[in-house]
Amino acid sequence: MWTKLAFFLLLLLLPLPTTAVSFTKDCVDPTNGSSLRFNFYETVCPAAEAIIFAGVVRAVSAEPRMAASLLRLHFHDCFVNASSKFEGCDASLLLDDTDRFVGEKTAAPNVNSVRGFNVIDGIKAELEAACPGAVSCADVLAVAARDAVLLLGGPTWQVETGRKDGLTANKSAAESNIPAPTSGLSALTQKFRNVGLSQKDMVVLSGAHTIGKARCTTFSSRFGASSSGSSDRRFLDSLQQLCGSGTNDTLAALDLVTPSTFDNQYYVNLLSGDGLLPSDEALMDANAGEVEGLVAAYATDVDAFFRDFGEAMVRMGRLAAPPGRGGEVRRCCRVVNA
Ligand code: HEM
Ligand SMILES: *[C@@H]1O[C@H](CO)[C@@H](O)[C@H](O)[C@H]1NC(C)=O
Ligand SMILES: *[C@@H]1O[C@H](CO)[C@@H](O)[C@H](O)[C@H]1NC(C)=O
Ligand SMILES: *[C@@H]1O[C@H](CO)[C@@H](O)[C@H](O)[C@H]1NC(C)=O
Ligand SMILES: *[C@@H]1O[C@H](CO)[C@@H](O)[C@H](O)[C@H]1NC(C)=O
Repeated sequence: MWTKLAFFLLLLLLPLPTTAVSFTKDCVDPTNGSSLRFNFYETVCPAAEAIIFAGVVRAVSAEPRMAASLLRLHFHDCFVNASSKFEGCDASLLLDDTDRFVGEKTAAPNVNSVRGFNVIDGIKAELEAACPGAVSCADVLAVAARDAVLLLGGPTWQVETGRKDGLTANKSAAESNIPAPTSGLSALTQKFRNVGLSQKDMVVLSGAHTIGKARCTTFSSRFGASSSGSSDRRFLDSLQQLCGSGTNDTLAALDLVTPSTFDNQYYVNLLSGDGLLPSDEALMDANAGEVEGLVAAYATDVDAFFRDFGEAMVRMGRLAAPPGRGGEVRRCCRVVNA
């Protein structure tokens, strides 16, 4: 606190560095549009993180699964990477369709699947009442994801804020960038590498499947005998019984043992062949190498999982539009400002 203040006072006494002068001359935002940091709202909206936390507490007490749904919103927001038009964590996912673009809500990985938009709207309305125009929707998603994990017993981490909300959304980019549950290990790894994240990030972030639910349609491809691999036959039989025919919106817990606790049970399940999605089971591929070691390590060491998960969430939260893309703080998360 005092060192920060002293540092600030020192800055005031120093002559302007020449780089700052040249930025001013070129009319370029010296923050470069990508100045994520801890406590970004400390001065512009000191209550921001407390307001978000209270909103997440309310939603998760009403329905524990909402914690999982909020965590997934941040992931699906951050992963959209439309090649030259990288979007990253810009709340593009929250935009409703308009005449100008078809948004991401109807993209295959999201339609009839992502949820929690009303919770975000409620939190955003409170933020607008407290500090109009200050807190971006993209930051609400990042903070809510962090809080949701903590509320179900998981780790916490210092969340970086200062994101801007994007001005558009891209359905086809969401479809090509968000990994599919039918993907194998190399495809999953590639989707993470596409946005600058590692295979290790993929393994540790998949641990998010320690909470929440999935529809039968996302895993019923595993019922065929040929695709059962090393998985637990009795587990698959019980799922098949639950789902009936292949196209069924019935839900199964992603973690059958502790479905509403954020713990390392996901990895324990993988070791006994009880991962739900084909993409979960893919982490058990015989040729998985480093992946195999990570799964075993996280299954036995919850502290290592919690630490690595928090670090990977911070990295995922840094996926951002390149400098100069612009952006805004949306007043309503569903529409860009007029
Ligand atoms: C590695 C690639 C991943 C694939 C293929 C994948 C796929 C899926 C699928 C198919 C579902 C079920 C959706 C439905 O039936 O409607 C799901 C649920 C979920 N995913 Fe993932 N996911 C991946 C990674 C992640 C990551 C990185 C996170 C977060 C850090 C995450 C968090 C969740 C959560 C929390 C749920 C449950 C949501 C709820 O209950 O509302 N997933 N995922
Ligand atoms: C801002 O972005 C430009 C172009 O990407 C880069 O060359 C420059 O070093 C960045 N400046 C700062 C302060 O990050
Ligand atoms: C995603 O973005 C990264 C980094 O900006 C880029 O290297 C990669 O080619 C992009 N991938 C896709 C599929 O657009
Ligand atoms: C949407 O994303 C795709 C990549 O999946 C890209 O080819 C296309 O140009 C993007 N559309 C717009 C309007 O940015
Ligand atoms: C889906 O599963 C539910 C629950 O077991 C069952 O009641 C329903 O009939 C199934 N629907 C189909 C189309 O198989």
